[in-house]
Amino acid sequence: MCGIIAARLSGAAAPALVEGLARLEYRGYDSAGVALRTGAGGLRVVRTIERVAQLERLLRDDDTLATTGIGHTRWATHGGVTERNAHPHRDCSGELAVVHNGIVENAAALRAELEERGHRFASEVDSEVIPHLIEEARQHGLGLADAVGAAASRLEGAWAVVVLDAEDGRVVATAHRSPLVLGRSIDGDLLASDIGAIAGRVESFRALRSGDVVELDPLGSEPRWTQGGRAVAAPLAMPCTVSNEQLDRGDYPDHMAKEIDEQPAVAERVLAELLPGIAQGEPWRSLALPDFRRIAVVACGTSLHAGIAIAEVFGRLAGIPSTAVVASEAASTYLEEQTLVMAFSQSGETADVLRAVEMLRTPGNPVLAITNAPHSTLARTADAVLPCHAGPEIGVAATKTFTAQVLTGTGLALAALGATGRMPRERVLAAVEDLRRVPELLAQSLRVADRFVPGIAGGLLDAHGFLFLARGAGVVYAAEGALKLKELSYRWAESYPAGELKHGPLALVEAQTPVIVLDGADARLAGNIAEVGARGGRVIRIGGLGADIPALGGSPAPIDAVDWLGPLESVVPLQVLAREIALGLGHDVDKPRNLAKSVTVE
Ligand code: F6R
Repeated sequence: MCGIIAARLSGAAAPALVEGLARLEYRGYDSAGVALRTGAGGLRVVRTIERVAQLERLLRDDDTLATTGIGHTRWATHGGVTERNAHPHRDCSGELAVVHNGIVENAAALRAELEERGHRFASEVDSEVIPHLIEEARQHGLGLADAVGAAASRLEGAWAVVVLDAEDGRVVATAHRSPLVLGRSIDGDLLASDIGAIAGRVESFRALRSGDVVELDPLGSEPRWTQGGRAVAAPLAMPCTVSNEQLDRGDYPDHMAKEIDEQPAVAERVLAELLPGIAQGEPWRSLALPDFRRIAVVACGTSLHAGIAIAEVFGRLAGIPSTAVVASEAASTYLEEQTLVMAFSQSGETADVLRAVEMLRTPGNPVLAITNAPHSTLARTADAVLPCHAGPEIGVAATKTFTAQVLTGTGLALAALGATGRMPRERVLAAVEDLRRVPELLAQSLRVADRFVPGIAGGLLDAHGFLFLARGAGVVYAAEGALKLKELSYRWAESYPAGELKHGPLALVEAQTPVIVLDGADARLAGNIAEVGARGGRVIRIGGLGADIPALGGSPAPIDAVDWLGPLESVVPLQVLAREIALGLGHDVDKPRNLAKSVTVE
């Protein structure tokens, strides 16, 4: 996970590195560091186990006037959170500095081998084998780019690596199954794990392909691209469409608040993209995928919930059978022929999803990626891609990307079912009309959530655990509510189909245990609620008029729910509840402990 950045500019590099690292912090925030090339041809390495803001303070007195540097923000895997383990790491000479994102799976064997040959290691991290391997390759007479290629050929796992040579200021980068982009501007070149980190500084960028080695010449000539030591054409340049405004939180106290609030607008944008073509079978037809008999959704976490919601839409609308695959468990999944594999991933870089896609894909079972990152590794490896148009999401907890995934997947379902004759055209058209209500439904839910949830949340801060219950289409949304609460509040939160309560989880309920019920007006829910009430549990109903949080269709400004879609609007009060409780407990809602946004390790 980790974020990496590099700058080779005509002016000072440190501000660009720090700005980029602050934007990459969502990828990990256990430590941060930079290496700057000093005017005298040395390296100034600054590292901290605090956040990027502290790194910025440490660099304020920087008088190196360095124009070239590399930086890193870490999500710890190998080795604890210490300054010694923070990147950049160096070779024995101290002249080569390296930042790495990914996992070197054979690091232990490489390290033993390198130590035997006399290399001295300064940290416990897997990444440190990389500068030493490059050092050796250079001792065998290779230039920096070839030495980086040779070192990479010894690695197993996934990596995006940037190397800085203090001697001549050369910067070389390489990647394998890990994201890295190169942006150019009149001020110089910038490399980053994510285009957002350098947005505003570059107008276009190129995404490194697996195996690419790119060398930035200190004199600013065209970067040199190679693979296996041979020159190759540069990857296609793409325009940078991310704006600084999208990355700023404006007047909001945190990114999560902004991203929750953006959901009606995101829904509007996603539907504006999709709805005009659905009656003609777009976007399904333009994906040029073969017809299917079943679908499998594959994803992790919140994206898995979005996938399950879509699988259920396919089922409700046309009886399409489906399988939901937890990406990290894909090895034990067997799919029938003619299954459309739909991979949901906000980042498009989730290692579990990438591995699952490799395992599940066959000629008869093509992979469709539904992602908010259309240039990501997942998008590049899938047979077809449908972008989600949520805009950059900075808060580690997924909010608006969930809504965008559900609506994008729903649009696709309608188009595919219409185009393959499984849904009559009039029903498709009626469903399209239903979807037009969704932005206002979400806005209504947001107004209700803002009014009712903070007071309720304030009374729940002492609870050490929470139950989330629903029936039918609400079950997956209850699961999403519980996940959000867990990751932000650090309290346990379990979700169950309400009928399961009496088969075990009811034992968890004691006096004042909060039980959040998505009350979708299923008559049997009343019985389940009574079972909780009888044990002293504190029931909080999210439902229509008269509920504790009347956020579902039909509440004060009555926009009717879209029954076949499921209670998408319920996700808003669930997100607000998780955020309010976390804030009440004093937690950082944008950067919950132990987590990162782009999970590039399995
Ligand atoms: C929860 C959350 C995670 C991600 C999961 C998959 O708020 O953000 O559960 O949904 O790590 O990530 P992506 O969607 O990038 O594949």
